Amino acid sequence: MISSELNSSSQGHLILGGVDAVELAHKYGTPLVVYDVEEIRKTIQQFKQSFEASGLKYEISYASKAFATVAMYQVLKQENLHTDVVSGGELFTALKAGFPADKISFHGNNKSKAELEMAVDNHIGVVIIDNFLEIKLLKEVLEEKQQSINVMLRLTPGISAHTHKYDQTGQVDSKFGFDVESGQADEALQQVLSIKQMNLIGIHAHIGSQIFGVEGFEMLAKKMVEISQNWHDKFDFVPEILNLGGGFGISYTDEDEPIGANVFIDKIISTIKEQTKEKGLQLPEVWIEPGRSIVGPAGFNLYTVGSRKDIPGLLSYVNVDGGMGDNIRPALYQAKYEAVVANKMNAAIEEEDHIAGKYCESGDILIDKQALPKVEPGDVIAMLDTGAYGYSMASNYNRNPRPAVVFVEKGKDKLVVKRESYEDLVRLDESYI
Ligand code: LLP
Repeated sequence: MISSELNSSSQGHLILGGVDAVELAHKYGTPLVVYDVEEIRKTIQQFKQSFEASGLKYEISYASKAFATVAMYQVLKQENLHTDVVSGGELFTALKAGFPADKISFHGNNKSKAELEMAVDNHIGVVIIDNFLEIKLLKEVLEEKQQSINVMLRLTPGISAHTHKYDQTGQVDSKFGFDVESGQADEALQQVLSIKQMNLIGIHAHIGSQIFGVEGFEMLAKKMVEISQNWHDKFDFVPEILNLGGGFGISYTDEDEPIGANVFIDKIISTIKEQTKEKGLQLPEVWIEPGRSIVGPAGFNLYTVGSRKDIPGLLSYVNVDGGMGDNIRPALYQAKYEAVVANKMNAAIEEEDHIAGKYCESGDILIDKQALPKVEPGDVIAMLDTGAYGYSMASNYNRNPRPAVVFVEKGKDKLVVKRESYEDLVRLDESYI
């Protein structure tokens, strides 16, 4: 989201989902994570519309690792989406939220037997099998429970996208999935086809995250149809579903130039249509797994400014009451963000500052250089586009409680995750003496 697209009141306060962000900060305290739910719904609709126009069968499976809470799964349920989970914890949260089990896919390169049992007991939609041990474990679970389940095979097709560049060999060296080139994928296919409790409905591949070009998805779509043809010729099996994973990039700063969801989807669909026609194969159902693009731009982290350090000749440090515990991405990935002063939206820009967190670590800088109005203690800073992998990767580093999460929509605000208390921090601690 570009800061010029933000709404503000005549008072110069940032407005999120029709609600005054400064009032939110005062009402719930800071640091505070705020989601504009209408923005989430809008993005989902854009993805859907792109598919609808194609006439192809499709599913959009939200990658819940980007942000997974009960309230988020409830919004997904309202929007009739699928979701994918990558742990027993995400699965538990989705089920707790009343999310329909048959719309859940289960990912992961090291699912435990207990997690697979949980998946089978709850009759989830599909287990996306990642490796040979998982085939064995899942078979055991299914036999023990006399159940059957839908599965997909996760493949490493030899394509990966490192944001701007595509790499055609790198993906082979990956901890995820069955390698296609070496024949592991063929072996996995044969094993799964021989297990009658497993209903193989499709294949999956994910080429990376925060991707800005369509080329990688085009390459992947071609590769998946090629694999389908090979399997048709060699094993008389054609996957009904091609799941192309997620990774659609968003704009964190004006250095990022994202392309619309429709451009990605159109390219994926046109490539699949063209390739299947050429090879005489039936049109498959197409699945995608966006995470970041659905929640990233809808999320804002609000902080209160405290102290500042002015160093002659250098940028000042504006210190806020959160930091790497609620958003590890700047420290971990050198991720860039933009921020505004939520109570001074109409004020002129006067300075450039480092926005620093409160964690006891020099690397806890949320934004390296941000143009801002004159910043004073008590001001509310809103960091933009923090909705993906911010709260979901939050920690209690320095024993700071994790922030509260509030959903805003149509002028209303609702607390959806409480702020952790100090008591919460010691809840699991046991005494040693
Ligand atoms: N499907 C699979 C199998 C994935 O591994 C991922 C992300 C997604 C879908 C969703 O990708 P998205 O649409 O959100 O880009 N923590 C990192 C991102 C890690 C992404 C891991 N996999 C970050 O903060 O940038």
